[in-house]
Amino acid sequence: MTGVRTSPARVLSRHGVAPDYPWTVEAKHANAWSRFPASPFAAGLVLMPNHPDRENVSVTYGPISVPAAVDTFAFLFSSAAASEHGHVISIRTTLVDDVGATVADVKLLAHDQRTATTLALGRLNRASVRLCFDVWFDRFEAGDDYGSIHVLYVLGYEGNILIDLLNEVGSDKGTTRYWGRGVPHCYGVEYHRLFNDVRHEQFAVLEIGLGNTVPPADAASLRAWRQYFPNAVLYGYDIEDFSFFSQPETFVFRGDQASRDDLRRFVATLAPPPFRVVIDDGSHASSHQQIALGALFPHVEPGGLYIVEDLGWQPFAEAPTTSELLRAFSDRGTVDSDFLTAEESRYLERTVENVEICRPNDSELAIIRKTTE
Ligand SMILES: C[S@@+](CC[C@H](N)C(=O)[O-])C[C@H]1O[C@@H](n2cnc3c(N)ncnc32)[C@H](O)[C@@H]1O
Repeated sequence: MTGVRTSPARVLSRHGVAPDYPWTVEAKHANAWSRFPASPFAAGLVLMPNHPDRENVSVTYGPISVPAAVDTFAFLFSSAAASEHGHVISIRTTLVDDVGATVADVKLLAHDQRTATTLALGRLNRASVRLCFDVWFDRFEAGDDYGSIHVLYVLGYEGNILIDLLNEVGSDKGTTRYWGRGVPHCYGVEYHRLFNDVRHEQFAVLEIGLGNTVPPADAASLRAWRQYFPNAVLYGYDIEDFSFFSQPETFVFRGDQASRDDLRRFVATLAPPPFRVVIDDGSHASSHQQIALGALFPHVEPGGLYIVEDLGWQPFAEAPTTSELLRAFSDRGTVDSDFLTAEESRYLERTVENVEICRPNDSELAIIRKTTE
């Protein structure tokens, strides 16, 4: 049985349910270069500060009623200018309720910088929340180009400890980091739902795909898993060399997820116990995802989860995509793919209990649950 869930009650964003929310917008002391779309979630919100002799530029959105589960907002900012300059721009982000209670934070951005801020609603009355941005120069240097701050992304979500950890380490599974021109995937909302009750138990976790820079300098998500699953043994698998990476009870292996030989060598060399959780955040190519699924699903413990991230992003075109494969399996109960052997396909047909496809924010992930027998 499968179905796509979009976490509507727990995530407010441009990719989620935010377009359904009506906002009013009120700008003060605006200049001709600032841009105020009708919703703070829409693309294109730009704030250029006024000359220091003038009033601060200020925009207020709302009030809106925030869904009961949404208790935290993340904001991503970048500073831009046609030419390099020496200004430093301040942006204050404030959430205000109808009796004037506030939570606020100020960030400073020099030329060509990016930053994020996170605000928790806490004591605010979420039946009526306004969102305000104010910008001014913290340091002003005479010149033609004032620069501006772009509000790249606004995300309201149900906060949890895993998202805080993912944000802290810089993984795009959280709410403040993203690859290239992408957006945060917010997978931590779903992962906490799946793992919170068992996260202190002893089990084995494997993640395929560890780095978020080229060349690799860190295994950010393994650091978050180390904190979140304090009693688990962690395994990491990546085509790049992560032998520099070291933390307690964590074993990394260099291999290509598209190579059955490498996957076999991984199991033979490290002899891991059956995995409670496997997360494929590797190349995202459908053939690679399916080869790894076929080779590793027998090494998932009964009742365990095999998760494939970023179903919608493919580095090259091929068929069936993993998304097509899993949807067809749910409809017909058969696994049909040239990327899997007949033996692997029959094993999956016998041992997959169900597939759940979730889209917390912009990107889908598949949660494949193994039967308990
Ligand atoms: C999206 S990043 C992983 C991000 C990390 N899990 C995090 O949350 O911060 C993808 C990783 O997959 C690795 N990778 C790419 N192709 C691979 C392949 N064929 N086999 C194994 N790993 C691969 C890359 O080297 C890179 O480290």
